[in-house]
Amino acid sequence: MDIYIDKTEEENFKKLDEILETHGHDQGHLITILRDAQEVFGYLPEKVQSYLSLKLDIPISTVNGVVSFYSLFSQEKKGRFTIGVCLGTACYVKGAKDVLNAIKEELGLDSGETTLDHLFTLKDTRCIGACGLAPVVMINDDVHGKVTPSDIPSLLHQYIKKSKEEQDD
Ligand code: FES
Repeated sequence: MDIYIDKTEEENFKKLDEILETHGHDQGHLITILRDAQEVFGYLPEKVQSYLSLKLDIPISTVNGVVSFYSLFSQEKKGRFTIGVCLGTACYVKGAKDVLNAIKEELGLDSGETTLDHLFTLKDTRCIGACGLAPVVMINDDVHGKVTPSDIPSLLHQYIKKSKEEQDD
């Protein structure tokens, strides 16, 4: 009987071992190790947390406590692109809620959810310091300013296209 081994996951755990090595398995580096681990896996599932708990000899409850506490960590698998709609005051008064609703409608998602194909994760954010461009939508590291609801289909399409191009490479 063949045993199914997820190659990607196996490679990711090898990278995690390298990260642990770099940090000398130092418990004091937990936050940095978690950050690096999230870069490798894209999120911090329970098995990664358990692995770190074992390797760093830290109780799983402590590891999970840190992961839950910091908003930069995610325990859910996120989409390839995270869409952040700023709901800070300046953006809100310039119609950010309508932009958010247009994205929700286009993707059939609520805030905090991810599309089934893991392409997009939607979230609302606080002020990102680009109020002059309100309303602002961030997609990964790209800042899109003065976005209107009617911009949404073509904006999302750019990223769908980008993801297809990546797959073709
Ligand atoms: S309120 Fe949206 S960027 Fe400041």
